[in-house]
Amino acid sequence: MADPRHRATLFRYVRGVCLALLCVITSLFAVATVRTFSLDVNAGLHLARWEETKRVGFDVSQRQREEMLENFKEAVRIPTVSHSPTDINTTALLAFGRLLRKAFPTVFASSLVQHEVVADYSHLFWVQGSQPDLVPYMLLAHIDVVPASESDGWDAPPFSAKEIDNFIYGRGTLDDKECVMGILQALEYLLLKGYKPRRGFYIGLGHDEEVSGLNGAVNTVRLLKQRNVQLSFLLDEGLLVIDGVMKGLDGPAALLGVSEKGSATVKLSVTTAPGHSSMPPRESSIGILAAAVKRLEDNPMPIMFGQGPERGTFEHLAHKFILPLRFLASNLWLFAPIVGRLLALKQDTNAFARTTTAVTMFNGGVKVNVLPSVAEAYVNLRIHSAQSLQEVMDLIDSTVGDQRVRVELLDGFDPLPISSYSETSFGFQILKKSILDVFPQVTVAPGICVANTDSRHYKDLAADIYRFAPIWAKAGDAQRIHGINERISKKNYEDMVGFYFTLIQNCDIKKLPESHSGVHEF
Ligand SMILES: *[C@@H]1O[C@H](CO)[C@@H](O)[C@H](O)[C@H]1NC(C)=O
Ligand SMILES: [Zn+2]
Repeated sequence: MADPRHRATLFRYVRGVCLALLCVITSLFAVATVRTFSLDVNAGLHLARWEETKRVGFDVSQRQREEMLENFKEAVRIPTVSHSPTDINTTALLAFGRLLRKAFPTVFASSLVQHEVVADYSHLFWVQGSQPDLVPYMLLAHIDVVPASESDGWDAPPFSAKEIDNFIYGRGTLDDKECVMGILQALEYLLLKGYKPRRGFYIGLGHDEEVSGLNGAVNTVRLLKQRNVQLSFLLDEGLLVIDGVMKGLDGPAALLGVSEKGSATVKLSVTTAPGHSSMPPRESSIGILAAAVKRLEDNPMPIMFGQGPERGTFEHLAHKFILPLRFLASNLWLFAPIVGRLLALKQDTNAFARTTTAVTMFNGGVKVNVLPSVAEAYVNLRIHSAQSLQEVMDLIDSTVGDQRVRVELLDGFDPLPISSYSETSFGFQILKKSILDVFPQVTVAPGICVANTDSRHYKDLAADIYRFAPIWAKAGDAQRIHGINERISKKNYEDMVGFYFTLIQNCDIKKLPESHSGVHEF
């Protein structure tokens, strides 16, 4: 037994350590609690201090309301379907060009607007501003849609634009004809009311976004580069307003996409000697490949939650989460690893926590009694903002860990740069104000797009690219995009037009009002 004096010292030592730990934990808890109830990164710019640029009110007559809905329905009825880069409906795309001219006569006749057709079916508009020293911005949207078939279970034919309970049904009502028509309709009404922008802007309408934009967007970018165009910011489709979609979030939130995940399509293949199934080797090409694929699924990419713009999403929305989520979201400095693990548990939130791995095709064998000489599998990965394509490829190689499996990158790109979303970010704050002008009840937050848009081709033209459309999405609505029963409410479409009407005028300010960070008024 030890000397009692020794024991007393040891006891005092242990007690000291425990007290110190307790102090640390208590103060962490205190800081976390204070943050939970005071943090509001949204406090931001005083809306009242904005230079007034809204000279034209959005008051449409009943006749105009009907006219804009009819224009939109006509757009939905034209089946501008893209199946693949070489299989697009050129007849429909040409018809769409004719519809634009018919629906927006003032836009096409105005001396302020220059219109040109790019790559045969895409459209580029330049709307001249009265103050050439103001750096122009750009609005993007796309004309083409993914295929749709009534037999998949639609409540209305997908190219009918049929109205059911004040919703207009049809492929493209959420992706992306509501933006195409919304932008031009807003411009049509502004010009009709005699509006002359101070800041010039471009409108780009691509015709092959759904099959990668390699004709429409890429050629438009080439033209703009030849003309040395630089943009103050660019707005494309992407994220939307979510209402009752995120569990634990109190009230609607507008998510402005500030980046897109990267992408990689990887082919795995195993080649073995062919032969008769009566004398098989111990391992077949299919077996070797199946084991490699299983290893990839069993060893997902590391959780990187908190290292990309998803951190900004949680921090901006923190004060809108219910307890105890609010406690976690307000204190990512402490809880990011826990939140990341929680998000990774579910299929729909896992995509925000890490690079995702999806095995999409697996082929091998042609005959029941022949050993297949080749087996191949395709894996599609969407890369988290904090990882690079190269890092992902290295991880795949080490996880597969079998020389007999050939790993080939078919195509891929790094995650897109992260656009600014601070109080001094012109594009972000203009968009935020425009969203709040139309939907005062929402909380605006930066977000990350897990899919890709045409805007990724524009990254040399604009440092700040935002992906957002003022679509009001409730639970289940996101599944309608590229799915069945895609639809938009008539009210929502009117709000879309109102949003662009407001945005174009808000962009006329010369600079943002003074930010008041440092003198935070909670
Ligand atoms: C292409 O669009 C036209 C309408 O512009 C339509 O009549 C035709 O059926 C479409 N073609 C295909 C293959 O869907
Ligand atoms: Zn789209």
